[in-house]
Amino acid sequence: MKPLRRRAAARPIEARARLPYPDGWFAVAFGKELTPGTVLRRRLMGEEIVVYRTRRGAPLAVRPYCPHLGAHLGVGGKVEGEDLVCPFHSFAFGPDGRCVRTGYGTPPPKAGLTHLAVREINGVVAVWHHHAGSPPDWELPAVPVDRYPAPVTFAQTIVDHPQEVVENAVDLGHVESVHRFSNARVRKPMRLDGARMSIGPAVQRILPVLGAIDVEFDVEAHGLGYIVVEARIPRLRMAALVQMMATPVDPAHVEIRFTTAARLGRAGARDSVAMRASRLLTLALARSFWHDITLDFPIWQNKVYLPRPRLAQGDGPITPFRRWAAQFYPPGAATPPDQVDPSQQPVADPGVLESEEEHSR
Ligand code: FES
Ligand SMILES: [Fe+2]
Repeated sequence: MKPLRRRAAARPIEARARLPYPDGWFAVAFGKELTPGTVLRRRLMGEEIVVYRTRRGAPLAVRPYCPHLGAHLGVGGKVEGEDLVCPFHSFAFGPDGRCVRTGYGTPPPKAGLTHLAVREINGVVAVWHHHAGSPPDWELPAVPVDRYPAPVTFAQTIVDHPQEVVENAVDLGHVESVHRFSNARVRKPMRLDGARMSIGPAVQRILPVLGAIDVEFDVEAHGLGYIVVEARIPRLRMAALVQMMATPVDPAHVEIRFTTAARLGRAGARDSVAMRASRLLTLALARSFWHDITLDFPIWQNKVYLPRPRLAQGDGPITPFRRWAAQFYPPGAATPPDQVDPSQQPVADPGVLESEEEHSR
């Protein structure tokens, strides 16, 4: 008879040390999902929101409950022209949120929807969150999506926090153990500039026939919800553009959105031969790029956040990264690493941890 394998149960999600919700821009949809007239229901930081696109093409996001009698506008709500129409009594709300008509032809009440700040950039629809309701004070950048074919996109909800996802980009130590690269090093040191963090790592991968291939990365994070990476393999004249976005849906879960596109040579105009070849390359490689990212998921889904980690040489610039990340939290909510009381350090779970259930859309 086979001996029973003992596995330590993962600490319940709600009992693990968690960072609070960060301020900043967070993706709520890919632009291509939100065709004109589409209404999407989303969860953002423990609350419902409704994201929709008017017939003329403007992406908008509102708090979900109709001020008339409380129906959820994301469940049966419809876009008519530039208005969002409630499914319950057909009251309509204009793009500025104001109620513009009732379903009875009577004068509309003085009521309105609460809009959230929205941006559509690089094929992503993002919503601004600030703990005190302050308006955006920085923007997501335009990245060179035009130099690449249309990306392949993936989305999956996992147990995690956005800071852990961005920290992974400066965590050089895990690149060998988790991603099977070797010779991880920093080509361009980390730079911290307002809401922007950049770093330029390089690694090697051993490929059959080709041997050791150098891969260079330029990584930028803008806040804790948006990462863009350009990866280059100079020897193969190949490059890839990846966007990775982690949006908190509740205190324990993030929805990961990922886009990836690859190109050969300089791949200029959209109809060039090189661009057509790049399109095929993107389709061929997208799933393996996504697979590389998912290798982190079992670690992220079961780890705790240690505010005072026991770091070692070779780790990458985790401490300055965390000082930078502290700016995205309400004052006093996230303690920078050099001010942490060691007695508050949570104890890591021993043993092998069962992974949480995953679900993808
Ligand atoms: S609840 Fe929305 S129109 Fe009545
Ligand atoms: Fe990773």
